[in-house]
Amino acid sequence: MITAENLAKSFGSRVLWQDLHLTVGAGEMVALVGASGSGKTTLLNCLGLLDRPSGGRILFEGTDLTRLGPGGRRRFRRDRLGYLFQDYALIENATVRANLDVARRRGVRPDHARALERVGLAGREEERAHHLSGGEQQRVALARLMVKEPSLVLADEPTGALDGDNAAMVVDVLRQLSREGCAVVVATHNDGVRAACDRAFDVGSGREAERGDSAGWVVERAAERVGRAGRAEHANRR
Ligand SMILES: Nc1ncnc2c1ncn2[C@@H]1O[C@H](COP(=O)(O)OP(=O)(O)OP(=O)(O)O)[C@@H](O)[C@H]1O
Ligand SMILES: [Mg+2]
Repeated sequence: MITAENLAKSFGSRVLWQDLHLTVGAGEMVALVGASGSGKTTLLNCLGLLDRPSGGRILFEGTDLTRLGPGGRRRFRRDRLGYLFQDYALIENATVRANLDVARRRGVRPDHARALERVGLAGREEERAHHLSGGEQQRVALARLMVKEPSLVLADEPTGALDGDNAAMVVDVLRQLSREGCAVVVATHNDGVRAACDRAFDVGSGREAERGDSAGWVVERAAERVGRAGRAEHANRR
């Protein structure tokens, strides 16, 4: 589905990575891990055409995304890509309904009710985004992804600011999207999120990361652990 080939990125004289190879297939969910500053966000931004790599190619279904013109980039982002951010990225003074409508494709009537029910926000269409809690806002962002039905989802620490139950829901919905055939890439520092993925790629070393103690976990166990880790983190922060 998406392949980064010989990808390189530098900022001035600082080389973040060189010769990076990563393929994520349809139906796969891959964690991007690595130390803070190793370039996880930068890689997601390159894959999502928010930033340009310094070298290499990004192939999406055979097309080199790095060679697309402005119209092609816009169409890829509009029609194929779903992005999930740590800070939710909703239109804050708009209603939940309007935030879901942003994802609407021409000629498609999105099923808002079903998406909102899936994320536990049934009947909340008319509320303004800024009146919702952080966890609820991220669930609206998830509903927006479901409405959009993207083929590629890029998520940048989507559970970073959430308590355990909300974090587990984010993982569940991403997993569901991947089961439906989406390629999902998640930058994360959370062991539970990583364990819920099919594999992990270490952006720092440019290699597949060891699964460590998470080997053999089933997704349900991982979601539980996301929940526990998140709850502990949440409690510590208070
Ligand atoms: N526009 C930019 N100009 C210069 N340097 C940048 C720019 N964007 C990112 N960097 C640098 O690139 C490095 C990688 O940043 P990035 O945000 O991708 O790391 P990360 O792996 O996502 O870290 P974290 O885990 O903290 O989110 C950092 O040292 C950062 O300062
Ligand atoms: Mg980052």
